[in-house]
Amino acid sequence: MTVDSVQRVMRTLGDPTRLRILALLEREELAVQDLVRLLGSAQSTVSRHLALLKDADLLRERRDGTFCYTRFVPPTEGPWADAWALVRHALRDDPQVAADADALEAILRARTLGRREFFDALGPEWDRLRQVFQDDLQRARAISRLIPRGLRVADIGTGTGILALELARLGVQVVAVDQSETMLAAAGQKLAAAGVLEHVDLRHGSAVDLPIESDSVDAVLGHMVLHYVASPLAAIREMARVLRPRGRVVIVDFASDDERPQPDREWMRKDLGVLWQGFSPNRIRDWLHDAGLTAIEVELHEPVAADRDLPATFIASADRTDRNRE
Ligand SMILES: C[S@@+](CC[C@H](N)C(=O)[O-])C[C@H]1O[C@@H](n2cnc3c(N)ncnc32)[C@H](O)[C@@H]1O
Repeated sequence: MTVDSVQRVMRTLGDPTRLRILALLEREELAVQDLVRLLGSAQSTVSRHLALLKDADLLRERRDGTFCYTRFVPPTEGPWADAWALVRHALRDDPQVAADADALEAILRARTLGRREFFDALGPEWDRLRQVFQDDLQRARAISRLIPRGLRVADIGTGTGILALELARLGVQVVAVDQSETMLAAAGQKLAAAGVLEHVDLRHGSAVDLPIESDSVDAVLGHMVLHYVASPLAAIREMARVLRPRGRVVIVDFASDDERPQPDREWMRKDLGVLWQGFSPNRIRDWLHDAGLTAIEVELHEPVAADRDLPATFIASADRTDRNRE
């Protein structure tokens, strides 16, 4: 520490208003207008003190619209750290600093109250107002962040690797299986271009004889693949086989209704190459149960594409509990 640096620190601290400003800004980031109210000083005076403290590299600024909020971040080492520790200790019992802290609390309470009154006045109306965000995708992305990193997930019938890509981006280790070499090559290209190929183990093989060790993955995903498989039950049994205890299977596919005659969607066979036009929720539940899985849930969703005659879809999930294989 040099004499010069000590002198600079002492000079900066040698003003009661600056000490009050530092004490306030250490507690909370504030706008100039807040400080003017709290200190009862003119804006020009407050701005002059702030400029001086900024020159000493003591302040961090954050812009919000046209406002600028300032915070004092005390240095953790050097003459400033020592000097501020001393000053903070000395100001502990100062009545002016205590009064400033109370006044600051009042300002913060008013900020909070303002937001509470805003939402108190809105209630359920908020759902209409929030449409301005158009954030369906963003919410889904946010929720997907809840997936623990390092999970090992099998993506059966990975196709061009769309789901494998999303999973790899979330830090999941993916085993992606497909019976078509061409589709696997397309997936490989897509994953490499996205820089996540190292997180995905592409394997050639059949859904009814998975090239995956038993009890080895945390979850299995079968997204729009079951309607291509000659024996869907055999595929679901394979999904259950490779699951670790407490693992989960998720299947997404077209829904049908066993109780009612279904429209024949020949175009799906012709254009999409499907073998089956869908499965009823009861059929899926039976198959998952038959494969020894529990906590079975099947959720139906109306078709979204209005321009093609598509069936509804379902999302089914089921767990492997330890009891399953006893
Ligand atoms: C409609 S794509 C779905 C791809 C991907 N899951 C998605 O949702 O975009 C179906 C994929 O399943 C694969 N597939 C169909 N039957 C299969 C089977 N028995 N075993 C493994 N893969 C199969 C096809 O090669 C194709 O790549």
